[in-house]
Amino acid sequence: MRVQRFEQAAALASALAADLIGRIQRTPRLVIGLATGRTPMLLYRELRLKTAAQGVDWSLVHTLNLDEFVGAGAVGQRYRDFMQEELFAHVNLDERHIHFLDGRAADLGAECDRYERTIAELGGIDVQILGIGVNGHIGFNEPGIALHPRTHVARLELSTRARNTWLFDGAVERVPELALSMGIETIVDAREIVLLATGAEKAEAVQGMIEGPVTPTLPASVLQRHKSVTVMVDGDAAGRLSRR
Ligand code: GLP
Repeated sequence: MRVQRFEQAAALASALAADLIGRIQRTPRLVIGLATGRTPMLLYRELRLKTAAQGVDWSLVHTLNLDEFVGAGAVGQRYRDFMQEELFAHVNLDERHIHFLDGRAADLGAECDRYERTIAELGGIDVQILGIGVNGHIGFNEPGIALHPRTHVARLELSTRARNTWLFDGAVERVPELALSMGIETIVDAREIVLLATGAEKAEAVQGMIEGPVTPTLPASVLQRHKSVTVMVDGDAAGRLSRR
């Protein structure tokens, strides 16, 4: 794992946005895996600004988001809506190239299978952006005795639901108990992975992910098995690493 440290989260977001735009310019048909959450919001802001300033063409790019709540929309914001506001409405992505899990599908298992097929049809993910939960989750792969390899229906920990109340009017009881998420192997199959972590509350998970054992009790630790992972951290999130 390569670790890149930045003094400020804004500098991290700017560097990654510049990198992604360079990739799009070199590879117009880039397949990008995207993450939601508060951490990538600065990244999406930078992508909006740089796209406008440089006239970046996203028309051939495909995006695939990691996860989605089951049933959201009626009770709070879907991750799909979040992405629309943060990025999709501001770049010239082709609607047909925006790939999302549908948390309101009648058959959730079939929806997960469809997503795996979509990823395969696109030839896999070139670069997957990830955040990390305070409990070490990636996507909605929660800690457990075993991890789901493929896209699946996930049961969310109470702590995870509590951290997602910002999309549900601050009410934890409104945050769905279930979500759809790419699985661990789905994520690890991406050719490159960039994980972002900012803030002191992520420091413990970041330290465990990089310096601890590979264990399903800290799902992000499986990224140690991947040959091309870059962890981009600010000073606070790097605060517990032994080599600072
Ligand atoms: C959420 C998402 C993850 C995200 C993580 C951290 O529950 N499912 O994809 O990376 O938790 O979120 P945040 O960036 O808001 O701390």
